[in-house]
Amino acid sequence: MKHIHLDKIKSLESAPRKVNIFSEKEIKMIQELYHSLPERTFNKKQNVKKKAWVQNYNKELDKIYFNKLKDVLGEYKMDSLKSENGEDYYGLFHESFSPLPLHVDSGFDENAIIYKQVITPLSPIGDTIFFKKRWYGRSTTFTIDKNELEFKPKPGQNDRSSAHLGDTEFDKETHQKYLKHIDINNLKGLEIEMIYNWKVGDTLIVDRTHIHCASSRINHKKLGLTTFTKK
Ligand SMILES: [Fe+2]
Repeated sequence: MKHIHLDKIKSLESAPRKVNIFSEKEIKMIQELYHSLPERTFNKKQNVKKKAWVQNYNKELDKIYFNKLKDVLGEYKMDSLKSENGEDYYGLFHESFSPLPLHVDSGFDENAIIYKQVITPLSPIGDTIFFKKRWYGRSTTFTIDKNELEFKPKPGQNDRSSAHLGDTEFDKETHQKYLKHIDINNLKGLEIEMIYNWKVGDTLIVDRTHIHCASSRINHKKLGLTTFTKK
């Protein structure tokens, strides 16, 4: 699959941008919401716990969150699945105990005009590494592992691909410092767009087409909120 509205998607692309849209009190409200939500999935393989932001647990916060994103994104729609009663989830909380691999969250709908990903750290230590390379197919995990590349995804699961690879060796120092959990040969041809150093109180706005991963810098666990948007 390739996204159909490629020109439109590309015309909306921009450099990653750090903003400070949530007050200390609002961040606290978001953290409290996380704790009150029901557990959704525990992905043992990736060692990550996920909870969806279900609407109506804290209606005031729902409104604040939606509108603050609107202030920075302009018109947008949520693109993070829907609850049983058809309401948009406002994002996914992810509590990870080991770093996420190289992937892209470009979605599964070729008709969607995918837009920005909004990342709000809720714990202080860690980084998300964004590469310059972009991907316009389905959500994909990038790997050089032959068995992994055979994986046949079910609906809603990431493709596997090695089509991100180029020829240039990846910088050894950066690999050592941030990306030890990834085989350096799986980073061939990639260049860093941004190393986003997590800071509670910041929010990062970044295109959904960027290939990215977590850094190896995890202090026991990392908690963040991600919202995927489309136009
Ligand atoms: Fe991601």
